[in-house]
Amino acid sequence: MPNYGEKEYWDERYCEDAGHPFDWLFDFIELKGVIEHLLPDKNEQLFLVGCGNAPFSYHLESFGNYTDIWNTDISPVVIEQQAALFPNQRWDVMDVLDMSIPDSSVPVILDKSLFDTLLCCSGGATKIEMMMGEIHRILAPGSRFISFSLHPIEEVIDKYKNDLYSWKTAFYRIKSKRWNAGKNRKRSTSHTMIVCDMPSSPSGAIAQFTRQPSFDDLVSLFPGLVLSEEEDVALKLSVEPVLFRAAMKLATMDTMLYCLYEALCRYGDEMNDVGRQKSASDKQILIRLKRQFIKWQKERAAKEAEDGGSGDGNNVDGDGDTEVSRNDNSPPFISQGGSNATTTIAATTAKWSDPDAPVPLFKAVGTAVNSQRDTTVH
Ligand SMILES: C[S@@+](CC[C@H](N)C(=O)[O-])C[C@H]1O[C@@H](n2cnc3c(N)ncnc32)[C@H](O)[C@@H]1O
Repeated sequence: MPNYGEKEYWDERYCEDAGHPFDWLFDFIELKGVIEHLLPDKNEQLFLVGCGNAPFSYHLESFGNYTDIWNTDISPVVIEQQAALFPNQRWDVMDVLDMSIPDSSVPVILDKSLFDTLLCCSGGATKIEMMMGEIHRILAPGSRFISFSLHPIEEVIDKYKNDLYSWKTAFYRIKSKRWNAGKNRKRSTSHTMIVCDMPSSPSGAIAQFTRQPSFDDLVSLFPGLVLSEEEDVALKLSVEPVLFRAAMKLATMDTMLYCLYEALCRYGDEMNDVGRQKSASDKQILIRLKRQFIKWQKERAAKEAEDGGSGDGNNVDGDGDTEVSRNDNSPPFISQGGSNATTTIAATTAKWSDPDAPVPLFKAVGTAVNSQRDTTVH
């Protein structure tokens, strides 16, 4: 994975991407209603961290009529490009981990996916703490920090909400408009918006939060965009079978064997849970399953070799929706066939030729593949 935390990575990327503006997660139009609701004062200064070359900055002005926009990013390349294009906005090179800005001085901070960037780079947890510390430090009394993250609420909540910070937090699921029931079904269905309000007086015994409007009512105010937990779960469930089929089609032999192994382990754990020792007959079941599996794989491999492989590189699941592109480095388990698949099957089954050998552990398997659905492989 590229090192998203490095300035050099972004400099290079923005040199290559010059003239190709890109909005991560959302564009301003998608969020316009929510942002205008949370930030009704169009003349208040908006401070953007990790602004990149996103159209978001100038759309805040052109579609949102915000008048005072201060953009910052660690990459001098992108700041120079953007400043030349939009000289009426303020552009500064700044590292969010160490900002040359006085304490308690900024009324509004906006982050779209800088949080994600730092979370996934090396030393991510420390960097996120530093980012939050700096943002918390520069926020003025009664200010508001709005952050948009790729990650679901449960993965981000403790990064924003903990004893280190005096702000009040709220978390929302915002439906991704890039997702739809058609060809984009494998995209994320929703992302997270985090709203942090600073108390109006940092010292009082009881913190007062005067920032208006309150953010409590967003789910009812923006139906279909700001999702309740139930709506989010329903949406994700509706797409799960598609994700599962896609994952199955991408799965390698090792992935499939790993899944089988996991299923058998779960079966073994269940036995232990009910107080039964794994008996000789349990072991026999495991061995029989392994034998059966190997036999089945060999038959498949032979058949695929015979057919000569008819895959065209794409998988279409019958609903006219192209599901997954073939990754040639990762021989697919299903349907493409040909010598690649045969070789992999042969190599993998060789590892399993002794049914008493310890079951090998295979790396990294997608959660969708790992789920325990009763699915037929076509
Ligand atoms: C995922 S992009 C998001 C860009 C933009 N906010 C958007 O929504 O499209 C992350 C941006 O954060 C910037 N960045 C990375 N590390 C940073 C840091 N320590 N301080 C400030 N900006 C940083 C990168 O240069 C990049 O422009």
